[in-house]
Amino acid sequence: MRRTIVVVALLMTAGGARAAAAQPRATPPARRAAASPSSDASAGRQIFDAQCAWCHGNEGDGGTGPNLHGRLRHATTLASIVDIVTSGIPGTDMPSFRSPLTERSIRQTAAYVQSLSRASARPSRGNVEHGTALYEQNGCASCHVIDGRGGILGPELTSIGSRRGAAHLREAIVRPAASHPPGYLVVRAAPASGPEVRGIRVNEDVFWIHIRDASGAVHTLQKSDLKSLDREIDASLMPSYASRLNDPDLDDLVAYLSTLRGTR
Ligand code: HEC
Ligand code: HEC
Repeated sequence: MRRTIVVVALLMTAGGARAAAAQPRATPPARRAAASPSSDASAGRQIFDAQCAWCHGNEGDGGTGPNLHGRLRHATTLASIVDIVTSGIPGTDMPSFRSPLTERSIRQTAAYVQSLSRASARPSRGNVEHGTALYEQNGCASCHVIDGRGGILGPELTSIGSRRGAAHLREAIVRPAASHPPGYLVVRAAPASGPEVRGIRVNEDVFWIHIRDASGAVHTLQKSDLKSLDREIDASLMPSYASRLNDPDLDDLVAYLSTLRGTR
């Protein structure tokens, strides 16, 4: 009983002094139940703006992280959204918020995300058919797999439309070095004897490093045999298409990539 009153008092503080003054001291439980989902979502919006918008976009319309409007891929219920925000999605850029946020803040943020997912996704501008042709013409498939077809130097794009927003996709094509998906760090290793190896770090431990070069070959190097090992944070093996594709072409290519929502 005592606990209930404390909770009610806290809710009333959050709701503002005017509401508190107008309410009788013991708020009926019905009011709390009715108030919670929408007030959770509005508190959640503020947390979203501070913690999530830099990846998911100001309106949740996508960036490094996916557009959260419309049907979500992993997060189908409130409980599953809470799970994802609590634990993150391992192997992706989606971090765990277990330590920066309290359980209550996570629930509020999840309620806001759920309200976004109920809004229908806005159609992207751009011509998907022309985007598909551009993808073929520009040799993207030599480095990227879609539905089992293509080269493996770059990340698989089969589900890229459900993992990244339009803004990030555009940036990735124009300025590939601006950000890297997990696991795409470029390194340069100089063995004591033999030619230098530059490529994507596939794997590394205390003793060994595995590097995939631009031709796709994987080199296994013992670290104690290296003269130097440099991490090129600002480099990418993907060429920039800034000078090859104009703005309408980029819209079309991004529209095509956004339709790729298959399972990985
Ligand atoms: C550093 C960037 C980043 C931040 C910060 C971030 N996310 Fe994400 N989020 C991602 C990425 C990337 C994915 C997609 C992962 C994948 O499936 O490859 C994702 C996926 C998700 C999903 C699953 C979407 C689906 O289709 O099922 C939800 C829900 C989500 N994020 C919510 C949040 C919330 C809420 C916050 C803030 C508390 C947040 N994210 C903060 C990058 C981020
Ligand atoms: C020579 C190989 C190569 C070619 C050709 C290439 N890419 Fe890439 N791509 C990569 C690599 C490697 C990455 C990893 C990111 C990095 O290093 O910045 C990448 C990253 C990406 C990403 C970001 C993926 C993510 O999860 O953030 C997108 C989108 C993408 N490429 C689309 C394209 C499109 C569209 C084309 C054709 C116009 C193309 N790529 C051509 C190698 C290539």
